[in-house]
Amino acid sequence: LLPSQGQAAPIVLRPADLAACADDCCVNIRPNGIPPRVPFTPLAGPVRTRKATGNLTTQERRMFNRAYQLLRQKAREDPTDPRWYLQQAHVHCAYCNELYQYSFQGARYPLQVHSSWLFLPWHRLYLHFHERILISLLKTDPEFASQADSFALPFWNYDALNAASPDCRTPQIYVDQTGLPFLYDSTRSEQSKSTLVSFNRAAPTLPAAQVISDNTATMRAQIFQATTANLFFGNPLRAGDPLSRRRPGQLEISPHNPVHVWVGGNMGQFGTAGQDPIFYGHHGNLDRLWSVWLTLPGGNRRNFVDPDWLGASFLFFDENRNLVEAKVSDAINTQASLRYAYEDVPIPWATAPA
Ligand code: C2O
Repeated sequence: LLPSQGQAAPIVLRPADLAACADDCCVNIRPNGIPPRVPFTPLAGPVRTRKATGNLTTQERRMFNRAYQLLRQKAREDPTDPRWYLQQAHVHCAYCNELYQYSFQGARYPLQVHSSWLFLPWHRLYLHFHERILISLLKTDPEFASQADSFALPFWNYDALNAASPDCRTPQIYVDQTGLPFLYDSTRSEQSKSTLVSFNRAAPTLPAAQVISDNTATMRAQIFQATTANLFFGNPLRAGDPLSRRRPGQLEISPHNPVHVWVGGNMGQFGTAGQDPIFYGHHGNLDRLWSVWLTLPGGNRRNFVDPDWLGASFLFFDENRNLVEAKVSDAINTQASLRYAYEDVPIPWATAPA
């Protein structure tokens, strides 16, 4: 009998599981040992608005660039600190390449947060802790300290589905090498520099109107027509389940996967994706699409209420270097516990004719 058919239980990662990781791409906990885990506490301060990259003010762009500059500067002072650049990317690498193992009923199981119902909540929590770290860095900066509490990661609104919109290409903030150099990544693909983003990995030579209509069809098929939690989030994955049982949700299949491949370079691989600042704009949009999906008409669009989903828990270092146990249930109410909301932007694919 598989555990999930008998005694179902959520996947829970414990501090000792972090220590067992032997790969270079693990969060470095060795110099200071493993701290005890502390429970999740909501971020203090106002509810912050995550805006579309194209709607940031000049000052907000500069603040965003400054946050990533500080993230890299701090890493030069202490490359082993789990909060700073590269270590932050390693958090993604470790959870995505099965480098941690959790214990269940006396056995050890590899953890992988892609391709199941863990995908959306894990990435939501990862972005949240990343955002908390950026806020804390901005608080140390004389120019931005007074605005740091209102800082929020922007989202890359690639489903604007408008060939004239800069959001349907690599957004300006990530390509301005001279003005915003710390948001730039030199490893990106050639097509990401010149073409419209495609959710279908189409040849960059397709006419713009074709790319937009293909992307519209993808959004409708993958998101609008994902009318149940299983279709949207992916299949359940409980403690003890073999990883072969995973099935990704439709949002993860597309646009999530093709946008990684289209950007290419660091973004094209699990191990390095978190090294490109555009990763957090891409996942900001996927996270926004979770909020949008809950409001779409028709079908049975609800979060799971299964205790094995809500009780699944992960470990993240927060802005004070505390090791926080965050559960899927901590990720459900973004305003109350994570203190952000998304700017409203048009949802063209939700109204286009089928
Ligand atoms: Cu964890 Cu977009 O990948």
